[in-house]
Amino acid sequence: MLYPIIRPALFKLDPEHAHELSIKQLKLLQGTAFERLIHQSVPSKPVTCMGLQFDNPLGLAAGLDKNAECIDAFGAMGFGFVEVGTVTPRPQPGNDKPRLFRLVEAEGIINRMGFNNHGVDHLVENVKKAKFRGIIGINIGKNKDTPVEQGKDDYLTCMEKTYAHAGYIAINISSPNTPGLRTLQYGEALDDLLSAIKEKQQELQRRHLKYVPVAVKIAPDLSEEELIQVADSLVRHNIDGVIATNTTLDRSLVEGLKYAGEAGGLSGRPVQLRSTEIIRRLSKELNGRLPVIGVGGIDSLMAAKEKLAAGATLVQLYSGFIYKGPGLIRDILRDI
Ligand SMILES: Cc1cc2nc3c(=O)[nH]c(=O)nc-3n(C[C@H](O)[C@H](O)[C@H](O)COP(=O)(O)O)c2cc1C
Repeated sequence: MLYPIIRPALFKLDPEHAHELSIKQLKLLQGTAFERLIHQSVPSKPVTCMGLQFDNPLGLAAGLDKNAECIDAFGAMGFGFVEVGTVTPRPQPGNDKPRLFRLVEAEGIINRMGFNNHGVDHLVENVKKAKFRGIIGINIGKNKDTPVEQGKDDYLTCMEKTYAHAGYIAINISSPNTPGLRTLQYGEALDDLLSAIKEKQQELQRRHLKYVPVAVKIAPDLSEEELIQVADSLVRHNIDGVIATNTTLDRSLVEGLKYAGEAGGLSGRPVQLRSTEIIRRLSKELNGRLPVIGVGGIDSLMAAKEKLAAGATLVQLYSGFIYKGPGLIRDILRDI
């Protein structure tokens, strides 16, 4: 693969510029003869999760392909599933720049992107064009200017628009970069949201004559007690899966490093153990009643195996992919 040659050049660029450039190039490559340049043959390692058949258990985590522009390119690299989004009902610019930082020594990333995206209608058009034969997850959120009390309506709008085109729908209530969003993870607010989502899912199932599972994505910053409450709520509302975890607000493992003081969510190697611990506790609490999709700091075959050993059925990458490139997909799938 070319990544070891390309990475130094990409890392010389501002991180968001590097990201935009990469997405643009992948978008140009996919569907052409040049797709061969990024194609990787990976062994089939079928897994059933949430009632869906995955060709392998490794997926792309949300946030890298926010507008679903490069699904086929990521599919060509070998991912068994691609989670696009987070998408919101209306397009929005996200937070002011700079909002993305590399903590190279720690192989971490801090981001406060704030759900910059072109809106759900645009995403759906892109998903419709994709030829990828794996599973497409669509991760949904709320617009920044929608008050948290009405946040539920944004999730329902996105469900309505994405249901027919999604393999599964991920409910993002754990981004630290939309004010108030994480409050939806607690108590009555969570129960209220999940019951509305479940009702919507049943209505859409009747209308579309197909069942699209719904997974909820949680933060790594929940206390033991909060985690138990979340698990209980997910089970009571018959949610189909849980994605653990999003980025952390904790900076203890990156103290003193350049950019460590930037606001936002920290991902990559510094979140690896914390996220595995959450998966372990969550799996114990859920006891097989719903599957866990593990994400957070996976940067090697061993890190992926640790997530599976902790109880995850599927795993996802974001930061590890930025640091190691597409070769990481092949390295993980060869021996997982
Ligand atoms: C730049 C960036 C943007 C992200 N955007 C989203 C997002 O829009 N929605 C979401 O659910 N997670 C988002 N995430 C979180 C990742 O999906 C993942 O949960 C987290 O980064 C931990 O995995 P990792 O250590 O492999 O990166 C983002 C992460 C990064 C680094």
